[in-house]
Amino acid sequence: MSHSTNLPQSFHCIWSSPSNIALIKYWGKAAGVQIPANSSISMTLKKSRTITSMKVELNPDFSVHYNFEGKRNNKFEQKVMATIQRLAQFSPELLKYSYQFESKNTFPHSAGIASSASSMSALALCLTSLRQKWDASLDSEMVFFKEASKWARLGSGSAARSVYPKLAIWGANPAYNHFQNEYAVVEKDIHPLFEGLCDSIVLVDTEEKSVSSTAGHSLMNNHPYRELRFNNANLGVVSMKKILSLGDWDAFCELTEKEALELHSLMMTSSPSFILMKPKTLELIQRLRDYRAQTGAKICFTLDAGPNLHLLYPSSEKAKTKDFINVIEMRDGLRVIHDEMGDGPRLEELYE
Ligand code: DP6
Repeated sequence: MSHSTNLPQSFHCIWSSPSNIALIKYWGKAAGVQIPANSSISMTLKKSRTITSMKVELNPDFSVHYNFEGKRNNKFEQKVMATIQRLAQFSPELLKYSYQFESKNTFPHSAGIASSASSMSALALCLTSLRQKWDASLDSEMVFFKEASKWARLGSGSAARSVYPKLAIWGANPAYNHFQNEYAVVEKDIHPLFEGLCDSIVLVDTEEKSVSSTAGHSLMNNHPYRELRFNNANLGVVSMKKILSLGDWDAFCELTEKEALELHSLMMTSSPSFILMKPKTLELIQRLRDYRAQTGAKICFTLDAGPNLHLLYPSSEKAKTKDFINVIEMRDGLRVIHDEMGDGPRLEELYE
């Protein structure tokens, strides 16, 4: 319920929101606004975050000023402005303000870490905090994060999953009634083996992606494997949910790697075709599999839409996987960002 008379004159908040890495991927959209073609499940990261400060003043002229890492950033400013305009369809009060954003990431640009997930979830959380000033239904924590997830989705699909701790599932699935296309939900059923799962991200190549996610999703529109893929991904979410709850490492390893390679095989077989893995990506995958066969270490990989390898292993396996990762850092000279499962976004400051 909107009560426009209660609009605050000014408001300032700072949210820190994490990125996430999908275990079963969102790749392809259905009809509608930012509706996924299948459900996806992701792990929320801990250290890879966007910290966004939003200051607003009541102003008859809606405007947005967006600084990223201390500098005005036109590209982000346009994207944020378009997102607020889109959200104003649900909450027209948003257009009665002028906005001043200061935003920064805790991870390097083009590191294969989804910055759109962390930045769009941080933006959505800031706007949801503002909306809470005139919409008392958001005083319920559950409703707050559900609405923040919806708004994050309208900025970037995968951002819908970043507003929750540990594991999140987004997108309708024929096997479950409570998974929705409009917002993500938290998945709390985690076996101790997967609590605090580590994600060491090997920066194989930090060049700008040759296909944006938005363009990438549209490659699924006429893809010959379209229906097969969407069914398979929905089944994948069902299996992954079970595996994470039972603590079945071998099944996790098999499904996670198959899914990462399926995402890349979809890109390779679309029109136009994209090969986003580099020779080094493949070399490291082969070395990982050899290392695993020799040592029995619990370590596997996933990939996002890029060449960088996400090495996943339980926190109890740190000692066993150390040698493998050390060689990549020392001998191959590749930068590795060590992240792990995190507790979700944090409200850093709220000034009324
Ligand atoms: C490969 O969420 O970036 O990372 O909704 O168009 O903003 P838009 O796309 P985006 O796509 C992410 C694709 C992915 C897989 C995933 O995170 O599920």
